[in-house]
Amino acid sequence: MSLRLLAITAAFVIAHTAAVADPIVIKYSHVVADQSPKGQAALKFKELAEKKLPGKVVVQVFPNSQLYGDGKEMEALLLGDVQIIAPSLAKFGKYTKKLQVFDLPFLFDNIQAVDRFQAGPKGQELLNSMNSSGIKGLGYLHNGMKQLSANKPLRTPADAKGLKFRIQSSDVLEAQFKAVGANPQKLAFAEVYQALQSGVVDGTENPWANTYTKKFHEVQKYIMESDHGVLDYMVITNAGWWDGLPADVRKALNEAMVESIRFGNKVAFDEAANFRQKVIDDKKAQVLPMTRAELNQWRKAMAPVWRQFEPEIGRDIIDAALKANQR
Ligand code: LMR
Repeated sequence: MSLRLLAITAAFVIAHTAAVADPIVIKYSHVVADQSPKGQAALKFKELAEKKLPGKVVVQVFPNSQLYGDGKEMEALLLGDVQIIAPSLAKFGKYTKKLQVFDLPFLFDNIQAVDRFQAGPKGQELLNSMNSSGIKGLGYLHNGMKQLSANKPLRTPADAKGLKFRIQSSDVLEAQFKAVGANPQKLAFAEVYQALQSGVVDGTENPWANTYTKKFHEVQKYIMESDHGVLDYMVITNAGWWDGLPADVRKALNEAMVESIRFGNKVAFDEAANFRQKVIDDKKAQVLPMTRAELNQWRKAMAPVWRQFEPEIGRDIIDAALKANQR
């Protein structure tokens, strides 16, 4: 064997051994429980990605803010310390104002409308709204519509006056609660149970999956069926890392992501009613339906929030979201 051939063969063996020995480690971090739609989607992504790319990738899923909580996960993604996260759409305010559309109170009639908007041209465009910060949107993932909760029934906006509400880190949600004379407090998700239990806050808003899997109904007396807003996610990655992956790996990961999101969305659609029923069956909190007239009072009180944020979000985006309510 010529020296040159020997060198090429050796280089090939080393490269091949390295590829076999060093799979790409993908950390997927989130703040909710494994049983939630996001928790299920993350586990499904691990299963599918490792099946499609045997020996080439290892996916490590970290639920329950184990690796990073709300405050740190975006920073960690940009630093390359974690590769995939799926923050709630309420948590991107530092990177784009356009996604604030999802927090506008009483904008979407139901989760199906949210789904239509996300799948439409404006929704798809928003997946790229953080490109300039090096954040790539891989897809939307559902959780569900939010319910208001507190230790007193919240029939009308006046009932919320003076109460402290935990909110996600969203200026729109802050304005939403201020509009009814309440005191919103931005807190990380990992702190919510304790804050409700100790009375640091009086109430909050959550979809059924989060309420049940985090036992918030054990530390709230009343949950109102308000469906006044949505809590959904964008699954994101570090654009530099993603674009630097070998093309075949990126393609397979993208397929795994699409399938895992489909799976998570099915959990969100199928399980919302079950999580609600489990909360009712636990008999810790009373679940109260709301009348159309009551909801209209909340809608009216919160309407100024739309006007306040329209310049930041863009009328075109709000209109597209409204249009998604029509089937
Ligand atoms: C919250 O902070 O309430 C949610 O964004 C948590 C989550 O990821 O569902």
